[in-house]
Amino acid sequence: MENARTVLFVDDEPNILKSVQRLLRQEEMNVLCASTGEEALEILSQTPAQVVVTDQRMPEMSGVDLLSAVRERHPEIIRMMLTGFTEIKVAVEAINRGEIYRLITKPWNDDELRATIRQAFEQADLKDEIKRLNRVTREQNFRLQDMNRNLEEKVRERTKQLASKHRELRTAYVQTVGALAEAVDAKDAYTRGHSERVGVYASKIAREMGFSKEFIERVYIAGLLHDVGKIGIRDSVITKPDKLTREEYEEIQAHPEIGAKILEPVDFLADIAPCVRHHHEWYDGSNRGYPDMMRGDAIPLPSRIILVADTVEAMTSDRPYRKAMPIDLVVAELDKYSGSQFDPTCVEAFFRLLDREGECFIRSEVKFDIYEFIEG
Ligand SMILES: [Fe+2]
Ligand SMILES: [Fe+2]
Repeated sequence: MENARTVLFVDDEPNILKSVQRLLRQEEMNVLCASTGEEALEILSQTPAQVVVTDQRMPEMSGVDLLSAVRERHPEIIRMMLTGFTEIKVAVEAINRGEIYRLITKPWNDDELRATIRQAFEQADLKDEIKRLNRVTREQNFRLQDMNRNLEEKVRERTKQLASKHRELRTAYVQTVGALAEAVDAKDAYTRGHSERVGVYASKIAREMGFSKEFIERVYIAGLLHDVGKIGIRDSVITKPDKLTREEYEEIQAHPEIGAKILEPVDFLADIAPCVRHHHEWYDGSNRGYPDMMRGDAIPLPSRIILVADTVEAMTSDRPYRKAMPIDLVVAELDKYSGSQFDPTCVEAFFRLLDREGECFIRSEVKFDIYEFIEG
């Protein structure tokens, strides 16, 4: 019988072994017998058994010693003792030390012995099942850990790819917007680079004010595009070196509205359009601002920031009718109109920036990378 249940009886009295064999003949199990502890250990090293039942008093190796050895070599085997009342003290001690699963006393009751043996097999099955489950759990844990590691790696990898794709797209977007701004500035030799510098100054002011990356980026883009509406103004008006007539001045004043109209239909620039529309509003809501005479916080914040940056850039650049002005004149102008034309918090942020970085940042021609700037 392969994989069958096997019990090994150990007793130095052949009669006991014979009667046990007789008793268990009808049971579905192999019954092996040994007359000494040594013989029992020899059998167990050859034949797997689930249960060992031994007498205590035997010449040479005692039952307790045998079960100790079995426990050490085959811990999965259920160990029992079949012994007379005279040996009971030893047997109980062995139970208490955890050497023995159960004790059967001689003379035994047949039904009880059969039942006890069956229970021992059930106990063996249970131990086996627990062992198997532990093994399965361990294996599943290993596999899960492995899967987790792979998954984490994949997620990391994909996130990295996405981030780099995203950055590529944003860079292409900024480059496109930059090209548009350059086209505007190119209409007038004197304003070359104006839009880019306004974008840079405005984003620096926004960062100084402690805003998020997303907001700083929006301010930069809006700065780049603030004068995009000048595309729609006649070159002769834009480049006119003399004082403008009233009609010409009104034509120039249409550029924020024209700019917003250009940007509105472009999905990814739609939120920039209002920032462009309002970049010439006055903070006090007076009619010196245009086009809507908006006031205070109703004016989009990027527009208020851009107005400061725009003024600084214009005053510190040469114009056909005047040279670039020194920085203290610029500071005086901002100071004078802070609260009327300009939002004071934007002016203050610009002054802090100037204090810390000095005026060199206004004139620096260093290539500006908005993402390096935001992340750095
Ligand atoms: Fe403008
Ligand atoms: Fe401008």
